Amino acid sequence: QGPANVSPTGADYNAPPETNAQQGRYLTTSTGVRLGDTDHSLKAGPRGPVLLQDHHLREKITHFDHERIPERVVHARGAAAHGTFVANGAAAGISKAGFLAKGVETPVFVRFSTVLGSRGSADTVRDTRGFATKFYTDEGIYDLVGNNIPVFFIQDGIKFPDLIHAGKPQPDREIPQAQSAHDTFWDFVSLHTEAQHHTLWNMSDRALPASFRTMEGFGLHTFRMINDAGETCLVKFHWKPRQGVHSQTWEEAQLTQGLDPDFHRRDLADAIEAGVYPVWDLGVQVMPDNDEQTFSGIDLLDPTKLVPEELAEVQIIGTMTLNRNPINYFAETEQVMFNPGHLVPGIDVTNDPLLQARLFSYIDTQLSRLGGPNFSQLPINRPHAAVNDLLRDGSHQDAVPGGVAAYRPNSLDGGCPFTASTAEGAFIDIPTEVHGAKVRELSESFEDHYTQCRLFYASLGEVEKQHVIAAYTFELAKCYEENIKLRQLGCLANIDAELCQQVAAGLGLPAPKPTEKLTTPEPSPALSQLGGRWPVA
Ligand code: HEM
Repeated sequence: QGPANVSPTGADYNAPPETNAQQGRYLTTSTGVRLGDTDHSLKAGPRGPVLLQDHHLREKITHFDHERIPERVVHARGAAAHGTFVANGAAAGISKAGFLAKGVETPVFVRFSTVLGSRGSADTVRDTRGFATKFYTDEGIYDLVGNNIPVFFIQDGIKFPDLIHAGKPQPDREIPQAQSAHDTFWDFVSLHTEAQHHTLWNMSDRALPASFRTMEGFGLHTFRMINDAGETCLVKFHWKPRQGVHSQTWEEAQLTQGLDPDFHRRDLADAIEAGVYPVWDLGVQVMPDNDEQTFSGIDLLDPTKLVPEELAEVQIIGTMTLNRNPINYFAETEQVMFNPGHLVPGIDVTNDPLLQARLFSYIDTQLSRLGGPNFSQLPINRPHAAVNDLLRDGSHQDAVPGGVAAYRPNSLDGGCPFTASTAEGAFIDIPTEVHGAKVRELSESFEDHYTQCRLFYASLGEVEKQHVIAAYTFELAKCYEENIKLRQLGCLANIDAELCQQVAAGLGLPAPKPTEKLTTPEPSPALSQLGGRWPVA
């Protein structure tokens, strides 16, 4: 149970659900009437037809008929755990968020997931992993909805449905289940070449984590932090596992898929049950909030680019420990709702066009996934801060708001006029200038699709490179269309000649020449230049 969480009418949201305990000496109907029998329906004689008047039969079957809700359109397969985040205070100078102040302890709920597979798919497939954290802070819910790969496939959220349609099973045969191994996926990423960087990470060992406990997590987008003095800076969030970063080999991943499709969720639950609590440090890379929103030539609004840690050190601002398994998968892991728009004072979004689309998408999908607008009232989603939201009615309304007037200010029961003192502690949008012609374009700085691919490939060891080559060869061999394979080989030629040649040889195809000028990535400037330890103390 978290801190007191009382509705405006005094209902304690954290009170134990005695009325729905699902345990005890007697079975009852959902309305609490004690039952004498749940194994025999009411019949006209033991061999006679079943009577329509059998309320218990109808309630039991009807409820069962409606047990399923739609699975998430992406990230459907997941596993989760509760825990605590303790801030070390290092971010207190750059963010006024209360939960980042030194020593503050905040309850968290973390859901790890694969992206493409359905709810019943295997855990250890080659895929990106979701790493979503809900912080139940005293100032309201903060969600850090990240992945285990620091860059994304696309730069503009308007392409997200296309990307997912290309990666999900083809409409005709509904295969494959959760592997990026078919014509539509490779067609998409070779036509939308900004996807090459994320795809390269997907072909690396990072896409085959040994355990959820050995994954890094990335907020990925650039976020803005605001301190008490109203000063802003730009940050990228990183989760660093104390367990180290470890992966499976492809052979191990194949075996665990077959032998134990629940491999990762079992591993997480078993570790926590055994008291071997996984721990992550949360860190930020801090960049100045300049007009261009670039850092060392990297466009911070482009989600296909990362900031190398040599350029801006990851500075640790707190530590998270996962120490409690959910008691009910559906109530907690399935019904939890994350949203990158759940922000607290001190943390804000930037104009990253992918992030901007996400701000719309999550609440929209959750309206249909949870059948209405009141999902914040579900126990797993309830804030631990008091709620006074003026929202009324709708399906699954669980709160009982009192009062006569659902608007403010009012002259009937008074209350909550907005004044300087009520603004204290409020989430205030920073007044930023917005200008520019209304266009369907991205800035030119988004056009470089290969420099960071080359940087990532060059950073790998020999064994890791061999794994990447084997992965591309295996996955591309699954394509039926030769022109797709050739187009993707053309992309590889722009990343690394040797990589391209070896994959081409494996596929029995000629290696194309690069179409982009291959440049060696610039050596990293010294840490002392901007970034680095600026301005975290
Ligand atoms: C889940 C949309 C990009 C991380 C989801 C869901 C949707 C969605 C509709 C299902 C939510 C639900 O049913 O509760 C989008 C769109 C994107 C985008 C439109 C781009 C425009 C990203 C990126 C990341 C990410 C860049 C990582 C930084 C996640 C995670 C989940 C998720 C971790 C699972 C949350 C959970 O465990 O419940 N996304 N997404 N998504 N997304 Fe995204």
